[in-house]
Amino acid sequence: MEIDKIYCKSSEEMREVDDESVSLVVTSPPYNININYGNKHVNGRAVEKKGIAYHDNREEEEYRKLLENVFNECKRVLKKDGSIWVNIKNRFVNGVIIPPFWLLDFFSDMYLKNIIIWNFDWGGSTSKRFSPRYEYVFWFTKSKDNYIFNLDEVKVPALNYRPDRFKSQMKNPSDVWYIQMVSGNYPERTTHPAQYPEELIERIVKFASNKGDVVLDPFIGSGTTARIAKDLERKYIGYDTEQEYVNMAEIRLKQPIQRKKKKSKDTRVYYWEMDNHTLGEFVKNNGRTR
Ligand SMILES: C[S@@+](CC[C@H](N)C(=O)[O-])C[C@H]1O[C@@H](n2cnc3c(N)ncnc32)[C@H](O)[C@@H]1O
Repeated sequence: MEIDKIYCKSSEEMREVDDESVSLVVTSPPYNININYGNKHVNGRAVEKKGIAYHDNREEEEYRKLLENVFNECKRVLKKDGSIWVNIKNRFVNGVIIPPFWLLDFFSDMYLKNIIIWNFDWGGSTSKRFSPRYEYVFWFTKSKDNYIFNLDEVKVPALNYRPDRFKSQMKNPSDVWYIQMVSGNYPERTTHPAQYPEELIERIVKFASNKGDVVLDPFIGSGTTARIAKDLERKYIGYDTEQEYVNMAEIRLKQPIQRKKKKSKDTRVYYWEMDNHTLGEFVKNNGRTR
């Protein structure tokens, strides 16, 4: 089996990948919300298709069947101690929310360990309901008890109201993750319309795989998963039906990662780990953050 490779084909059949050879599957499937998978943007909207054939507006049954086929393949290639992480969000259709919990049916032979709420501050505003500011990440393991779980690799500083006096302790990051969306001024931003943040995937790859393990993304898009896997000394395999995105991912894999670095001596570092509510309370009681 070839590794460190991105295939330009549908992941409904991944014959190139051996049974039980992958430790971690992490992906965000197409949402079926009529996203324009063009790759030129004006004012944040995709306007040009440039040969992108994928249409994000399938019949619902056909869409769900596609995902079921792909995830069946993911289960086939997954090692016994491996896990599958799926980032997906609510859809808002004809005035009502459609949550993606139908997806859980495809994993009834696996173990749902967490539903992560990925919270961010970015997106369109709504006037007749609260603005949507989260997506889900479902985490499924193949084995009930024996699965890769590197909690120490991803611990975050505990809230500490006197960072000038006490060293912060490290804690479990919980199942609500506050990580910003990839907005226009991020160095990692590509023209892919549904790119997820490197920071989100970094936490998952560190937590749920070890160095040298194979990480698979069956809907690789701009290559975020492969880029993080490579940076963290894992192996990667990716699939996408669009040659344009495969090319984009391959270019990205050759570029050095430019991650925001937190300065350890800066006492403000702990603000970045606070959730919005706690930060709001803190600012109310203690003044501004800068
Ligand atoms: C939500 S995007 C993934 C974006 C990715 N997480 C990133 O950070 O760039 C979904 C991707 O799935 C691809 N896709 C759609 N149907 C596919 C299929 N049957 N097999 C493989 N890829 C497919 C689309 O071209 C699109 O790039």
